[in-house]
Amino acid sequence: MTLEIPNDLAIALEAAGQVHLLGSWDSLSEESRRNLLSALRALDLPQIQKLGEHLRKPIEHEAQSFEAPMTFPLERTEEQQAYAQKAIALGERLLSESKVGFVLVAGGQGSRLGFDGPKGMVGVGPVSGLSLFGWHAARLTAAKQRFGTRITWFVMTSATNNGATRAFFEEQDFFGLGSENVHFFTQEMLPALDQEGRIVRTTPDELFLAPNGHGGTLQALRSEGMLDLAASLGIEQFSYFQVDNPLVRPADPLFVGLHAMAEADMSSKVVTKNEPGEKVGVLGLADGKLGCIEYSDLPESLREERDSGGQLRFRAGNIAVHMIRREFAEQLTLDGQLDLPWHLARKNLKGINAEGQVAEIPGVKFETFVFDALGAAANSVTLEVRREEEFAPVKNAEGSDSPASCRLALTESFGRMLEAAGLDLPERNPDGTLPLEVDPRVAENVEQFCETQRQMTPDEDGWLYR
Ligand code: UD1
Repeated sequence: MTLEIPNDLAIALEAAGQVHLLGSWDSLSEESRRNLLSALRALDLPQIQKLGEHLRKPIEHEAQSFEAPMTFPLERTEEQQAYAQKAIALGERLLSESKVGFVLVAGGQGSRLGFDGPKGMVGVGPVSGLSLFGWHAARLTAAKQRFGTRITWFVMTSATNNGATRAFFEEQDFFGLGSENVHFFTQEMLPALDQEGRIVRTTPDELFLAPNGHGGTLQALRSEGMLDLAASLGIEQFSYFQVDNPLVRPADPLFVGLHAMAEADMSSKVVTKNEPGEKVGVLGLADGKLGCIEYSDLPESLREERDSGGQLRFRAGNIAVHMIRREFAEQLTLDGQLDLPWHLARKNLKGINAEGQVAEIPGVKFETFVFDALGAAANSVTLEVRREEEFAPVKNAEGSDSPASCRLALTESFGRMLEAAGLDLPERNPDGTLPLEVDPRVAENVEQFCETQRQMTPDEDGWLYR
């Protein structure tokens, strides 16, 4: 018996303005019909209607007032130094009691990088070639050694890279962390729409789906059972970080402690913006609400404005590192209520047109952003950290924020460790990097490096401290 379009589905699609999806039905094979039906059954049509309405809305409301956030600065008064010491002690205690769980967001597509696979597989170790996933794992192992914390690692993937990510972790034997301590969860995918609000198809039986943005982390933590799991393990706080930055410190006792002492719901790390024109989002208050203000949303006069100390007033560059109280994540996602604003990315999408031909279709992808949850936080800490120590993201294939610039930043940070310990630096490679790598399990900063008595292990490609 040939498959036919179920009546209820046809009616629902018609009502939602998506009947074009059935346009090629008569020419589809049985298998394609089955594929299409299961994709259509999975759609949340009321939600898609809402997304379509967004397209028709006039330009979003622009904020009228902007304020810079209060930050816990790098240059500290005596009082702040004493406060930081207390925070570190508290952070160390919370870590040693395994009250912190680690959330890595790795659901995005590495397309900008031109890498065909999960971005976390990109090798950035200057000597070892260690992958981004490997760096994060090494930092977590270091935390286990330093604080005796049990590592619980929540890794968010999306349908685009879930299989390949899991396979890579297995191949790497979970980097020695134990498969029982690594919990994969997947974020939702959303259909992309054309400018009239119709769902784009990539083939006659396949819809154009894209991950719903890192704001989807919160809902996915809930729907994939991670919030319950965390609660059952006694985890009170989540340390949230992105896959693209191997310098990130997921287990930073100062950050954990400051966040906990302030009884904050959600906190952020920032680096000082290099210059007014640097295209990073800055943390700040727009119309009184804390969030990340996109470069293009901040009026030019404010981008340039300096405070009495001569520093940019809006300089708190977002590096997408957060602490999130577990109960805050629970409250936000209660009964599927999470209500973050939609951000629309308008792009030409490779899909099929009404005639069934492959074409570039002017379309829209919809995402929510995790930092929009800051606006709902009763308390929040913004901690300023050194860019050269904690931020070297891999975003582009070449130039700034590329694997090459990341490797350079890593070797510079290792170079500073050696210099502080009074050791000679090896001769630089032609590309300017040092043939040098310090495993996070040996040291993650100058102080830790100076305390270690490690010998360098010569490797065919350079010097490796491990
Ligand atoms: C992001 C921030 C920017 C910040 C910068 C720091 C946004 C919109 N902007 O920029 O303010 O200065 O990081 O590096 O986020 N991801 C998912 N699922 C998704 C989308 C993204 O897991 O659906 C993950 C990616 O795997 C990646 C991270 O989120 O780890 C960042 O996403 P990306 O789109 O690359 O953000 P950026 O534009 O780099």
